[in-house]
Amino acid sequence: MRPSALEAYVGAARDLVGNPSSLHWAGREARRALEDARESIAACIHADPGSIVFTSGGTESDNIAIQGVLHASAPGKIITSAIEHPAVLQPLSRWASREAREQGWQLVQVRPGSDGRVSAEDFISRIDDSTRLVCIMWANNETGVIQPVKEIVRHCRVTGVPVLVDAVQALGKLSLDCLTLDADFVALSAHKIGGPRGVGALVVRRGVKVRELAPGGGQERKRRSGTENVPGVVAFAAALREADFSSYASMRDAFERALEETIPDAVVFGREAERVANTSLFSIPGLDGETLLMQLDLAGFAVASGSACSSGKREPSHVLLAMGVKSGLARSAVRISFGPGNVRDDGLALVRELGRIRQRLRTMAGVVS
Ligand SMILES: Cc1ncc(COP(=O)(O)O)c(C=O)c1O
Repeated sequence: MRPSALEAYVGAARDLVGNPSSLHWAGREARRALEDARESIAACIHADPGSIVFTSGGTESDNIAIQGVLHASAPGKIITSAIEHPAVLQPLSRWASREAREQGWQLVQVRPGSDGRVSAEDFISRIDDSTRLVCIMWANNETGVIQPVKEIVRHCRVTGVPVLVDAVQALGKLSLDCLTLDADFVALSAHKIGGPRGVGALVVRRGVKVRELAPGGGQERKRRSGTENVPGVVAFAAALREADFSSYASMRDAFERALEETIPDAVVFGREAERVANTSLFSIPGLDGETLLMQLDLAGFAVASGSACSSGKREPSHVLLAMGVKSGLARSAVRISFGPGNVRDDGLALVRELGRIRQRLRTMAGVVS
C-alpha cells in the first residue's frame, strides 16, 4: 500500500469505530468519512458519487454486473473478448453450458490480433438486436494492451445494449472519465493502485438497476448489502488521489531494451500496441515460465508467470493463445509489473539475473553456449 493509503487505513480503523448505518455520533463520523471517500473517488474518475457502489474488489464488481444483467434477461447473445480476466470469463461460462445453449444463449469471445488488441470494428460487428450484454476490459492484465473501449461503449449506448467495462487495470494508469464513457457498469479494484486488497467499486450508470448478489441489510442504496469497509474505502480514496503510473513507462521500456540486448531471442508480447505504462510480458524461448519464476523468487524478484492471478496454474496463458502465440512459447511467459517502490535499476538488475539464470539452466541442461 502507498504510505498515504496505509496511514488513512490505520487512522480510520483506529478512530472511526462506528457502523456507518448507525445513527449515533460514532456512526455518523464513519458515514461522513465513507461519503467523503466516495466523493473523492468520484472526482478522480469523473463520476457521479451516487453511481459508486463499494465492493470487495474487481471480481465482485464484475460479478454483480454480469449476474445481475443476465439473470434478468431473456436468452440471447453475450459478447466479450477472449482475453478477459477470469473474473469475467468464469461467471460468463455459466451461459455457455450445454443447458444454457439449449435455452438459446450464445457466448461470443472475440479474439484479439497478434498485437493483443481487439479490433473495435470486429467486436462491434457482432453486436445485434439479440445481444443481452457486452463485457470488455480497458487494459489487459497480462500484456497491458489497451482495448478500444470508447468505440465499443459508444456503439452499445446507441443500440441500447448493456455494457460492462472492466477497468481494473486502467485505473490510475489511464485517464478515466466515467461520465463521458457512459458505460452501464465500470469495475474497479483498489489493490492495483497501491490501495488495500479486498476493496473495489462498481460504477453504475444513472437509471441502471442493480440486482444484489448477496441480499441483506440494503447498504449502498440497496445495491450491495453488508457493513461497508470504511478503512478500506478511505484508503482506496487516498491511494487513488496519488495514483500516477506514467513514470513507469521509461522504467519498463529501459527494462525491455536491456532484455533484448542481453537475451536477443526474448519475445516481448503486445509491444506494437499501446499499453499501460508498467506492464511487461515476455518469453525466453526454451525456458519454462514457472521455472524462471521460481529461480527469480530465490533471487528476491516477485514476478508472475502467465496469467496466474492465483498460484499453481499450469495452463499456458489464454491471452497469449488467443493472440496466436504457440503453446510452448506461451508456457515460457513471465509478467512483470513495476509499481511504487521500484527504481529504474530494478529492471536492469532483473535483466542481469535473467541472463545468469539462463546461463545456469543451459549449463545444467548441457547446452554449450
Ligand atoms: C482486469 C482484471 N479484472 C478483474 C480483476 C479482479 O480484481 P480483484 O483481484 O480485485 O478481485 C483483476 C485482478 O487482477 C484484473 O486484472
